[in-house]
Amino acid sequence: MDYLSIIKEPIRSEIVEFNSYFKEQFKSDIKLLDTALLYVSESVGKMMRPMLLMLVAKSIGEVNKKTFAAAASMELLHTASLLHDDVIDESDKRRGRPSVNVAFNNNIAVLSGDYMFSQSLNCAAETENTSVVSEISSLGKALSKGEILQFQLQQSGEYNEENYLNVISCKTASLFKCCCACAVLTAGYDKELFDRFVEFGENIGICFQIKDDIFDYYKGDVGKPTGSDMREGKITLPALYVLKNSKNPVLLPIKDKLAKGEILDEKEIESLIGISLEEGGVEYALSQIEYYRQCALEALPVGLSQEFYNAFTAYIDYVIKREK
Ligand code: IPE
Ligand code: IPE
Ligand code: MG
Ligand code: MG
Repeated sequence: MDYLSIIKEPIRSEIVEFNSYFKEQFKSDIKLLDTALLYVSESVGKMMRPMLLMLVAKSIGEVNKKTFAAAASMELLHTASLLHDDVIDESDKRRGRPSVNVAFNNNIAVLSGDYMFSQSLNCAAETENTSVVSEISSLGKALSKGEILQFQLQQSGEYNEENYLNVISCKTASLFKCCCACAVLTAGYDKELFDRFVEFGENIGICFQIKDDIFDYYKGDVGKPTGSDMREGKITLPALYVLKNSKNPVLLPIKDKLAKGEILDEKEIESLIGISLEEGGVEYALSQIEYYRQCALEALPVGLSQEFYNAFTAYIDYVIKREK
């Protein structure tokens, strides 16, 4: 069986029920908003976050109405953040088609993103669990902090691995962590389970973003543009590694520019990508993914049934091996 089938196996019926509940969240009585929401809901993503949330919940108890509401809240928040992210990054493609900022415009992307954030909080409230609401509200802050920190680091030229990890922990891993937290909160709270799954989610999230950042070093169809991170001032793990460790003289003017908070030109970007590929940068990033994969597996609680242990292992391997 492939990774996705192993992940979905224990939650097959729950996924069906979740999908119909999730679709319901994309309705509005304002025609223009409804059109934009329909456009968003037509192209679903990989649904990594709801799948994780439902898996964790079912591995320790039962997927109930509150679990569905929390899962929908999480996927809405994630999708809304993508709408805003594409405005910020001036990106023209998402999930294999024109992003909302291009298919409509920036204003519609920002406003429908806002609407989806609010709908996400509505779903959180439907859990009638103040701990869930609190987790999700804090998550919204973490996502914004991550994006702004990324911007601040670019401006100040403070590129290093520690800062990079801080950014990806806020902008990406926080979502995976929160999915695990909400799963335990809705399916049967237990402190030990909570801590372990949150740790699992954090490590998965770090793997997820490092993998996503590696896509950017290659030309290929991942449903969104590649090769654009450096143009947006994002210097990710493979490049950070060579900037620190390579003695290649080509890097000297590049380092100078980055330290001054300047954006690299096309030729410099091409050199930095080439050196990252040739001098062990991508290899290093892959070794770090392997490290966080191991941390994730070690965080899993003991006593999981074989079916769920396999599903969690497949989940992390899917994150690592995925091609989009
Ligand atoms: C994209 O997340 C944003 C990142 C954290 C890199 P996904 O790759 O999960 O996006 P969709 O939901 O499948 O489109
Ligand atoms: C990923 O940001 C996390 C978000 C908050 C969307 P990126 O800008 O790196 O993600 P992609 O590559 O556009 O999906
Ligand atoms: Mg982006
Ligand atoms: Mg971005």
